[in-house]
Order: sequence, then C-alpha cells, then structure tokens
Amino acid sequence: MSAVIKDLPSGQVGSGGDEALQQVRQYWNNHIHDWKVAQSEVGSQAFFEEIEEYRFEKLNYLPRLVDFDGYRGKRVLDVGCGVGNDLARFAKGGAEVVGIDLAETSIDLARRNFRQRGLAGEFQIMNGERMDFPDDSFDLVYCHTVLHFTPHPERMVQEIHRVLRAGGHAIVMTVNRRSWLNLLHKVMKVEIDHLDAPKFHQFSAGEFRDLLSPFASVTIVAERFPVRTKVHGGLKARLYNRWFVDLFNALPRHWVRRSGHHLLAFAAKAAAAPVAAPPG
Ligand SMILES: C[S@@+](CC[C@H](N)C(=O)[O-])C[C@H]1O[C@@H](n2cnc3c(N)ncnc32)[C@H](O)[C@@H]1O
Repeated sequence: MSAVIKDLPSGQVGSGGDEALQQVRQYWNNHIHDWKVAQSEVGSQAFFEEIEEYRFEKLNYLPRLVDFDGYRGKRVLDVGCGVGNDLARFAKGGAEVVGIDLAETSIDLARRNFRQRGLAGEFQIMNGERMDFPDDSFDLVYCHTVLHFTPHPERMVQEIHRVLRAGGHAIVMTVNRRSWLNLLHKVMKVEIDHLDAPKFHQFSAGEFRDLLSPFASVTIVAERFPVRTKVHGGLKARLYNRWFVDLFNALPRHWVRRSGHHLLAFAAKAAAAPVAAPPG
C-alpha cells in the first residue's frame, strides 16, 4: 500500500494574505518537531523510528490515554500531523486516516513515513484554521502540539468542530500556562522547545475549556510530567536529569496533577437531533 498523494495548491495556505500564517508555515518548514533527536538520515526509516521512540518515551501518557486501535473503519483526521507518527498508530489500528499540515516539509516526511511503514493515508498541505473539507467529514479529529502554535486557535477549534460528524470526538492537546515546566523555565531558565516559534500561546485549563465551548462535552486532563532529557546538555540538564526528575515524580501525583505541562481535551460534538415524528 502506498500513501495517496493529493495536494492542494500551496496558494490556498494562508489565503487572504495572512502574514502570521506564512511566518508559522516558514518556521515549521525549518523546524520539524523532535527532528534534533534523530541521528539517522532525514526521511529514512530509522529517522522516523528514532523520533517515535523519543516521543513515546517523553509523552508516555499517549498510549494510556489515546485509543489508537479504537477507530477501525472510522475516518480520523490529524490536524498539524508533522511527520505523521501518531497518525501511523491510528492507521495501524485500522482507521482511514487523513493528515494535514501547513508545512510542506511535514507533509513530505509524513508521506515517506507512511510509505516506508507500508501504511495507507491521505496527506494534504492545508491550513487547519480554514479546512477544505465539508462539514461532518470525520469521526475523530486529533490535534496534538499544534493549537498553541497557530495564529488563531479559536478558528482552529471551530474548524475541528465543523468537520466532525455529529457525535464525533476530538482529542486536542495544548500547553498548560501553569505547568511545572513553565515554572522551571521562569525560575531557572530551563529551555522549552519552540519558544522561538512565531506563535506560542499558552492556556490555563479554564481558558482551554472556554476555547472548546463549541463542543457539547469536554474533559480536560493535565499530563506530561518530568522525564529525563536526551536533547539538552550542560549543567542544568545534568541537575535536571540527576535530581529533579526523580524528586518530582516521587511526589504524590494528586498533589502535582494540575501542573502537568500538557492539557489534553477529550471533546464530543453534540449528536444529531432526533428527527421529529410526523404529526398524527
Ligand atoms: C510541534 S509540531 C507538531 C507535529 C505533530 N502534531 C506532533 O505532535 O509531533 C506543530 C505542527 O503544526 C503545524 N501547524 C501549525 N499551525 C498550523 C495550521 N494553522 N494548520 C495546519 N498545521 C499547522 C506545523 O506546521 C507543525 O508541523
């Protein structure tokens, strides 16, 4: 099986002369997420595997909270899919998958990733704030590490809601403004990836919930607690790896739960209203 190649003309990205969107696109064309952890040749099978291993070690909550195998035969859209590693898990679980991303580098790599894994998927360069899909197109919309990097997160949420079928689900992640990592950054200038991105919004859990107001139900979970870093060096990274990670994780989770660096929303679009029975 090979990835279906179906591009939009890139003119549709950032239409309306949206300068902010063009900057976001340019940044992500040059900063593929987690790219720096990989030693192997860019685009090789080993490259994708290294990124995946790193990601699922760092985001060890993902397989616990996201039912990648639970969408067999369902249509799943990944908004801002990057190199497509999460989408590959949905595809392996039997979902019919579509990945979109503003950056052509991402889409190119996601296609190669799928081809090398022998998975089927459709990929398009597209703006998640203005998607080219009809209403009610997907059973699940997944959007991880994207919402806070787009110029208008509220537009992206509205679009995610629009393209979902009635009763469909969204899994959306963003960054918690009140996280342990933000505190460490403020106090000790610990590095946070992609702080130099043209847009980097952060939300409290309450603000995130407000943003998701189009949905009929929303559950927000705070996750992403300290794990040892492989990508940062120097004294601070050594202290962090040697002391901070174990000390933090020894604290009862319910004390620190709300400080998780990632906020994950599990949201549902309202089911279609029942058709009224004809009178008489
Ligand atoms: C940090 S990467 C995350 C990639 C992937 N979701 C992951 O978790 O590994 C952010 C991605 O979001 C994409 N992105 C940002 N704004 C976007 C938008 N408005 N529409 C589509 N993709 C967008 C970027 O191009 C980039 O590939």
